[in-house]
Amino acid sequence: MAVLPITKYGTPVLRKKLADVTVFDDNLKKIVDDMFETMYEVRGIGLAANQVGLDQRIIVLDGSAHYEGCEKIALVNPDIIEMKGEEWMVEGCLSIPGLEGDVARTTEIIVKAQDLDGKDVLIQATDMQARIFQHECDHINGKMYVDRVTPSARTLMESKLKKLQKQTEQSL
Ligand code: NI
Repeated sequence: MAVLPITKYGTPVLRKKLADVTVFDDNLKKIVDDMFETMYEVRGIGLAANQVGLDQRIIVLDGSAHYEGCEKIALVNPDIIEMKGEEWMVEGCLSIPGLEGDVARTTEIIVKAQDLDGKDVLIQATDMQARIFQHECDHINGKMYVDRVTPSARTLMESKLKKLQKQTEQSL
């Protein structure tokens, strides 16, 4: 297993709708292992493949150390097919260090996805686990939580975001 560098705000792949995974092989399992390793290293609770630079619809989650009902799971080609309820709560993102903001998410969801063997799965999630799913499913569609904060919150973030984007672009 390997810890991979995390892509930061301003990296083009973070704004891309990622490609479907079509091959379910050992390489996919290795990518997922590396994603978990990377996420644990930085004490994250969710990670999307574009956060390690990959253009593939893969997400990993494990909030079990902090939140009840947030068990470890890896999903391929996930798609949220039902959403219910709404709750505002503060979020951050490993790709946007030093910032956080309140985001409204639905509190009950159903996710249609595939497991690492390509088998179809339906996952029901509530509360924090539902929030992590929504945050990570946003990532693989090129969306980030800062797109979902209120306009006034976004205004307050804007200068830090611009600075981070510039830093990232200079490092690419
Ligand atoms: Ni994130």
